Amino acid sequence: MTVAPHFSFKNETLHAEDVPLTTLARELGTPLYVYSRKALHDAWGAYSEAAKGRDVLVCFGMKANSNLAVLSEFHKLGSGFDIVSGGELARVLAVGGDPGKVVFSGVGKQAWEMRDALQAGVKCFNVESEAELELLAHVAAQMNKVAPVSLRVNPDVDAHTHPYISTGLKENKFGIAIEDAPAVYQRAAQLKSLEVVGVDCHIGSQITEVDPYLDALEKLLDLIDTLAAAGTHIKHLDLGGGIGIRYTDETPLTPKMLLDAVFERLEARGLGHLQIVLEPGRSLVGNAGVLLTQVQYLKHTEAKNFAIVDAAMNDLLRPTLYDAWHSVEQVGQAAENRPADAKTYDVVGPICESGDWLARDRKLDVQQGDLLAIMSAGAYAFTMASQYNTRPRPAEVMVDGSNYHVVRPRETLKSLFADEKPLP
Ligand code: LLP
Repeated sequence: MTVAPHFSFKNETLHAEDVPLTTLARELGTPLYVYSRKALHDAWGAYSEAAKGRDVLVCFGMKANSNLAVLSEFHKLGSGFDIVSGGELARVLAVGGDPGKVVFSGVGKQAWEMRDALQAGVKCFNVESEAELELLAHVAAQMNKVAPVSLRVNPDVDAHTHPYISTGLKENKFGIAIEDAPAVYQRAAQLKSLEVVGVDCHIGSQITEVDPYLDALEKLLDLIDTLAAAGTHIKHLDLGGGIGIRYTDETPLTPKMLLDAVFERLEARGLGHLQIVLEPGRSLVGNAGVLLTQVQYLKHTEAKNFAIVDAAMNDLLRPTLYDAWHSVEQVGQAAENRPADAKTYDVVGPICESGDWLARDRKLDVQQGDLLAIMSAGAYAFTMASQYNTRPRPAEVMVDGSNYHVVRPRETLKSLFADEKPLP
């Protein structure tokens, strides 16, 4: 069994759905991002089941994976989108996404991005500072439009996750401190080109327990009561993204656990009429992808054994950036069949940095030329990839049953510097 149910061993070969990863490597080369369409649908299903009969809008946090094939699948399933840039908005529009289901997050929205979003008609701007509120009001007034706004409130709760991806603490750059929020809402209510529609928060990522959400929820519900007493009535409550996935042995909370608990609290406080918005990224795509790579060389030194592969930190930054754990599967041998005396390896790439590693201290029984799958690479993998060391970014392929579709070709060397020019 692998951490990701849509990637499993059949005849001692790791498959994506019904396609052997060996076939994909042979036909498309490595490194290669491999996605499972069914995994996307099943992850969506967990949210839609949990939301059944309730007023819930799921807006895919598309920074996790913004390939148009992924976006169009979620769009067809009924998803909205959480965007953080004008570029992400352009992608949503390119797949025919519904701007009325788009929420616009981010601490540094620029005027052109506000204009594009107002023109498109997004559902809501999640505003993160007073300065942003003033600029948005100005831009909307110039366009003779009324901008729908939520304030992203910082509830000062600990999401118990990695400090780099924890966002709801006082010292983070995100949101407006909850004690300042009533005054900023009051200011928003005075501005004729703004309409207050919601309250928003996002407390972090790869969260595994429900409690941090409920801590934040209580504080937001108190705020909503305060606002109502002052005459501002909120239509929706956005709880952000953050549900974790299994990278190794985690058992994260499920969408159902979250929504059951949230609606119970809403009912108890007489706020059952509120629409709940969620912005999940990782939990919709993380375990729908792997990074397929080939062992170039083995190197045995006094201190360590290295498996030098053709993928690198530029293709998957998470290990070196967050010390993140990604499981490594041998495409030709399930872990349970590994010999007891298998050597321990660091899986590293060809980049000229000691930080260029993908996994450390893993028991592997590998030879030069073998294929490895770096698991859970559907989220924050391609979207955080770079061309460092002038390495073309790998292709992305979507498996669908026994078929596959290349949804982004491998970059060519020429394309990497096609727009650059030596001085005349
Ligand atoms: N909404 C907002 C406002 C966000 O900032 C994020 C993620 C999400 C939603 C989606 O969160 P998710 O459901 O994926 O946890 N690169 C890091 C994760 C950074 C998350 C940034 N914000 C990683 O690879 O772990």
